[in-house]
Amino acid sequence: MRPSVSVILPTYNESKNLPIAADRITRSLSDYRHEIIVVDDDSPDHTWEVAEHLQEKIPQLKVIRRLTGKGLSSAVLTGMGAAEGEVFVVMDSDLQHDEKILPEMIRSFYERDVDLCLGTRYAKGGSTGKWSLARIGISRFANFLAKGLLGLPVSDPMSGYFGIKRSVYSDTKNAINPRGFKILLEFLGRSKENLKIEEIPYTFQTRMYGETKLNNSVIKSFFLAILDIRFGKWISPTFLLYSLVGASGVLVNLVGFLIAELCKFPDVQTGISFLDPFSLSVLFGIELSILSNFFLNNYFTFYERRYSGKNLTFGFLVFHSVSMVGILVQMSAFHFIYYSIFKQWNGVSELTLKFGADILSILTAMVSNYFLNSNLTWSQKPELKT
Ligand code: GDD
Ligand code: MN
Repeated sequence: MRPSVSVILPTYNESKNLPIAADRITRSLSDYRHEIIVVDDDSPDHTWEVAEHLQEKIPQLKVIRRLTGKGLSSAVLTGMGAAEGEVFVVMDSDLQHDEKILPEMIRSFYERDVDLCLGTRYAKGGSTGKWSLARIGISRFANFLAKGLLGLPVSDPMSGYFGIKRSVYSDTKNAINPRGFKILLEFLGRSKENLKIEEIPYTFQTRMYGETKLNNSVIKSFFLAILDIRFGKWISPTFLLYSLVGASGVLVNLVGFLIAELCKFPDVQTGISFLDPFSLSVLFGIELSILSNFFLNNYFTFYERRYSGKNLTFGFLVFHSVSMVGILVQMSAFHFIYYSIFKQWNGVSELTLKFGADILSILTAMVSNYFLNSNLTWSQKPELKT
């Protein structure tokens, strides 16, 4: 007989946690016909082998050992593709997700006919447990963005612990981006219908064995996912990240200028008539913003292709040159737009026209800089440095 519930357990280096997790889940779901699908990405610690041994004790456990492909979301999708139940539950295999709420989660489907049910750390009765301040901060910010930008009606859209009806999975699966960690967000953000959703609070447990796979790349791909779900129809999400960094650069530029002025940086003579007297404070602001833009783009926008160690200086020099080209592009674009096009308009004040031309020239330089940076500065093939 087909199981009614399929628990999908993605694993990567969880050989110590998996036997305990599988045992707890089996007990918790003893009243339901269920299967447990372990999807392992050929873990170096042989989690898949541990899983295969578990099958003697837990016959309803299946093992998928993926030799090609990696990543949490895609592992979950692989598991769902093989699942036979009517309800799929996705859960971490590292004991951080409390299995005691499983029966309640299942009841929400069979008794209250929900489409999706998630374990939440952010509703009354739930908690993130012991987390570092940085992780609390990132998680809260991510939550805020997900809810603000996507208008999701849930308290914990980043939860890795959720149940979903097979039919919702089938309707949505082709729209899902398999890269990254944020599979629930994908289902919530891309499902076409209004889903009936329920949330069940639980306390996120501290890891006992092994370590988290959550890193910068995961965090970045999460931001990309939000931008892609919200704006992907119109504009490349990487370009949006790049623009965010650019916007922060404007602030850094201003702050740098103010600091330099307060430190009484002098004006100097360069001998080039149209530059003199030359303000070192302006130069300082520009350089500081180029520096911060480089680092933010390197560790965020283009994280997978980032420069590190000895290569950092080289990368910075290329980025710096591209920024210089950007200045030239902006100056010439301004010149062209203002003198060849705008100036002929009568009845509009000079300041308005110049301001409009400046905005357009900034946008032109942004696009050309983005083109140069993504094809030149960060052009290397992404290496798998996760
Ligand atoms: N097959 C496979 N492939 N499994 C993976 C991979 C992968 O590339 N990366 C991680 N996993 C498994 C882990 O073995 C674990 O069972 C589960 O996915 C979650 O990974 P963790 O590394 O433990 O993530 P976390 O605890 O830091 O993150 C949790 O909280 C996030 C939000 O705060 C997870 O629940 C995430 O799903 C959630 O988004
Ligand atoms: Mn975990």
